[in-house]
Amino acid sequence: MSNSFFQKDIVSIRDFNKEKFDTIFDATDKIISMNPNERRELGRGKTLGYLFFEPSTRTRLSFEAAMASLGGTYIGIADASSSSAKKGESLADTVKIMSLYSDVLVLRHPLDGSSRFAAEVSTKPLINAGSGTEEHPTQAILDLYTMRKEKKKIDGLKIAIVGDLKYGRTVYSLLYALGNYKVDVHLISPQALKIRTDSTYEIKKRLSYTESTNLEENLDEFDVIYVTRIQKERFADAEEYNKVKGSYKIGPEIIKKMKEDAIIMHPLPRVDEISPEVDSTKHAKYFKQAEYGKDTRAALLALILNEKGF
Ligand code: NCD
Repeated sequence: MSNSFFQKDIVSIRDFNKEKFDTIFDATDKIISMNPNERRELGRGKTLGYLFFEPSTRTRLSFEAAMASLGGTYIGIADASSSSAKKGESLADTVKIMSLYSDVLVLRHPLDGSSRFAAEVSTKPLINAGSGTEEHPTQAILDLYTMRKEKKKIDGLKIAIVGDLKYGRTVYSLLYALGNYKVDVHLISPQALKIRTDSTYEIKKRLSYTESTNLEENLDEFDVIYVTRIQKERFADAEEYNKVKGSYKIGPEIIKKMKEDAIIMHPLPRVDEISPEVDSTKHAKYFKQAEYGKDTRAALLALILNEKGF
């Protein structure tokens, strides 16, 4: 029997249920414990092709590192200005070409809907690595895996999600993903950056949450504080960005008010919302989270590429 990820696209985390998360989490635990030679069999002879039409550090490099660790190879475009997109080639044609050269595709693109469209055009499985302000499903997988590893559970957690909830695509994928669990979610953002009303219906079907502008309220109750960057590049007006930049800063004063065993997560990159002094505290899990990104992506690729799983 095929594993449920074999040759499948990963476009939206809304397509996931608890069983799918468990499959990836178990596969990730296995990948971490595997010996490197065994692991290199999982992607041998396979090529990952990536197309990044927006900047990336962690997502692209972790996919590269993941594919290398599976014994496969990768090719790709890290900067759209160096591709034929610059000459006016359509996304559809670029994706079609990449699917001739690779076994699995990874796409990051500024437009909402880009991944869904590209997956339809591609003849190979396509993974959404960030589509506009819409979603970033593999980030949600690694976010949940981080909670499971670092808090030893997901059900029962009290989670604050802080920052740019309007434009942060990681927030949407995380909320849809958390909808599979019994969690207590608190959304904290400036008034102007609350989650988009066009998505609240979908989110409310999955989980209930409270909204606030004040980070310090209930700070001593959260198990997880998930901080996000204000997405400067998505603002239509620089003045609007200036009004909200620097809204929340996690530093030593905030840390003192947190639960003893609370963890701080961030999809990264950070700008000024977490002070570097926090990095050496036991609460800081954002670098560990980035490391889990490589492991969860390796597990996902191995499942997509190997019919029987591993
Ligand atoms: C995020 C993204 O691209 O949405 N980055 C990432 O992949 N970890 C978050 C961000 O850019 O703020």
